Amino acid sequence: MEHPEIISKDPKSFRIKPNLASYDEAAASPQWDSVKSELKWFDGGGINYAYNAIDRHLGTPVESKTALLWEGDRGDTASFTFGDLARLSNQYANFLTGLGVKKGDRVFLFLPRIPVLYCAFLGTLKTGAVAGLLFSAFQETALFDRLENSGASVLFTTTELSSRISKVRDKLPNLKHIVTVNSPDFVSAISRQPDSYACVRTVPDDYAFMLYTSGTTGKPKGVVHAHRGAVQAYLTARWVLDLHPDDIYWCTADPGWVTGIVYGILAPWMLGITMVVHAGRFDPDTWYGLLEKYHVTVWYTAPTAIRMLMAKGTEPLKTRNLSSLRYLASVGEPLNPEAIRWGVKAFGMPFHDTWWQTETGSIMMANYPTLPIKIGSMGKPFPGITAGIIEDDGSAVADGKEGNLAFKPGWPSMMATVWQNQKKYDSYFTAGWYVSGDRAWRDSDGYYWFVGRSDDVIKTSGERVGPFEVESALVEHPEVAEAGVIGKPDQVRGEIIKAFVVLKNPMKFQKPEDSAKLTEELQVFVKKNLAGHAYPREIEFIDRLPKTRSGKIMRRILKAKEMGQPIGDTSTLEEY
Ligand code: WTA
Repeated sequence: MEHPEIISKDPKSFRIKPNLASYDEAAASPQWDSVKSELKWFDGGGINYAYNAIDRHLGTPVESKTALLWEGDRGDTASFTFGDLARLSNQYANFLTGLGVKKGDRVFLFLPRIPVLYCAFLGTLKTGAVAGLLFSAFQETALFDRLENSGASVLFTTTELSSRISKVRDKLPNLKHIVTVNSPDFVSAISRQPDSYACVRTVPDDYAFMLYTSGTTGKPKGVVHAHRGAVQAYLTARWVLDLHPDDIYWCTADPGWVTGIVYGILAPWMLGITMVVHAGRFDPDTWYGLLEKYHVTVWYTAPTAIRMLMAKGTEPLKTRNLSSLRYLASVGEPLNPEAIRWGVKAFGMPFHDTWWQTETGSIMMANYPTLPIKIGSMGKPFPGITAGIIEDDGSAVADGKEGNLAFKPGWPSMMATVWQNQKKYDSYFTAGWYVSGDRAWRDSDGYYWFVGRSDDVIKTSGERVGPFEVESALVEHPEVAEAGVIGKPDQVRGEIIKAFVVLKNPMKFQKPEDSAKLTEELQVFVKKNLAGHAYPREIEFIDRLPKTRSGKIMRRILKAKEMGQPIGDTSTLEEY
C-alpha cells in the first residue's frame, strides 16, 4: 500500500496521559527487567499468576475495590471486590487440595461465564495445578479429546453442561472428579472451606494454564503457559490497553479462548482494574446498554463483533450516552479499515488493532495510544519483542515483501510446551525464530501488515477452528464418505466454515429437497458432536476431493476453486 490512511494522535486530545509516553524510547531499551519489580515475587524468585492478580492487593487500598462487575444473560447482576475474590478463590484452592490435587495436576473448567469460573480458575492456579479451559460451546467429541489428552483429574462444570460428558466419562480413567458447581452438595461443600490459603510457591517455569488450539492437521494441541507470562501480560495491559487505576474495563472475549484468560482475567486484575463481565450472548443493544450502564472506559473486543455492530448503523447509538469510553482495542482477526473508520464515526475514536496468538501468551504487536495508526496495519512489535518477516529457511525478507511473521524466542509469555508433544513444539521454530503461521509484510516505517495464514487454520468470528476436527466430525455421519473443510471469506465473520462432502450414496440425495435436508442434518450433527461454533455454514456435495498422491486432502485447491482463483501448483496432486 503506497499511501495508507493515517489517524494521527494529538496529545492534547488524550483524556488521560498514556502509560507509554514514547514508543520509540521504550522500543530502544530493554523492558522486562524494569517491570519485574512491580510484580510480587516469592523469596527465591518464585511467581504465581493468581497471587499477582488477586492476593498481592490484600492490605492495599485495592483490596476493597470492585474487581468484577458481573451481569448474567437475564440481566441479573453481582459484584465482587478483590478481597472477595481472594477469599473465594482460597475456598476453591482448599477444596481442590481436599480432593488431593497437587502441583502439576490438570484441573479443567467447562463452565459458562459465571463468577464461579473466575474463582475456580484463580483457586486452581494458587494450588500450582494447571488450569485447562474448555469453551462452553464444546460438545462430546471436542471435550473428550481435550480431557483425554490432558489427563485432567478434576472437571468443574454445571449440571446442564455435564450431560455432554456423561457418555464418554467411562473412557476417561484419569478424570476422578466431576464437580457440578450448581449442585446443592457442592454449594454447601465450598461454603464450608476455609477462606485463607497459602498460595503454592510456583517458580516462573511452572505451568499455570493450558488451552487446546487448532492447527491444520490432527487433533487440537494443548498449548501450555507458565507463570512467568505474568510479566508480559502485565506490561502489555498497561502499555497497549493503557489501563489506568480508575478505568472500567470490558474485554468481550470468553475465557474458553486465550484473550478471555489473559486480558479477561489475569492482566487487568494484576493492575487492580475493575472489570465488566457479561455472561449473555452478543446483541448490539445489550452491548451498548452495558457500555453505558457500567461507564466502560476501555473496551477490548473483536472485529466480527465490531462488524456486527456496524451492520446496525449508528442509529442505536443515538439514545445512548457512551461518553465514558476513552480507548478501544481489537484482536483475533484482521481489523479492516471500514471497521476502524466506523469506530471513529460511532464512538469518536478508532479501534486499536493488536496481534497475538494462543501460543504467544500475550500481545506481541499492537497499535499504541501515542503512535499514529496506519489503518489496516497491525502496528508495531511490543517494546522488548523482536519481530521479523522471514523466508521458509529463516532468511530475512526485504521490507515491502510478504513472508512469514516470526519472532525471536524468549519473550516472557512464550508457551512453555505443547502438552506431551515435543515434536509439535519444536515444529514452531526455524533457524532461531518462532514462526507464527501468519503471512505478513513490514513497511519502511516498521509497521506490520497482516496478509493471511500460511496454513489451513480457520478463523470464524475470531474463533480458531482446525479443518481436521470438522472433517473428522463430518465423516462420523453414516452418509459421509469424505470431507474437506476450508475457511471461506465472509464480510461479517471474517471467514465461515465451508465443507465439501463426498457422499457414500450420492444417488439418494439427487433431489434438491433431499440434499437440503441432509445439509441441515450434517450441520446439526457437527453442532451436537463437536461444537456449536464449529459447524459448516455451507456444505457442497462433490464427487471427489482433490488429494495429493500420498492421499492428503488439498484444501488449498478447494479454496482456490471456491474463490474462482487459479489452482496453482498441482504437481503433487493426484489426478483430479
Ligand atoms: C489471527 C487470538 C490479523 C492470526 C489472540 C493468529 C489476527 C491467530 C490478529 C491466533 C490481528 C490474531 N490481525 N489476524 N490483529 N490477531 N489474528 O490463537 O491468524 O485464537 O495467528 O489467538 O488469529 O488466534 P488465537
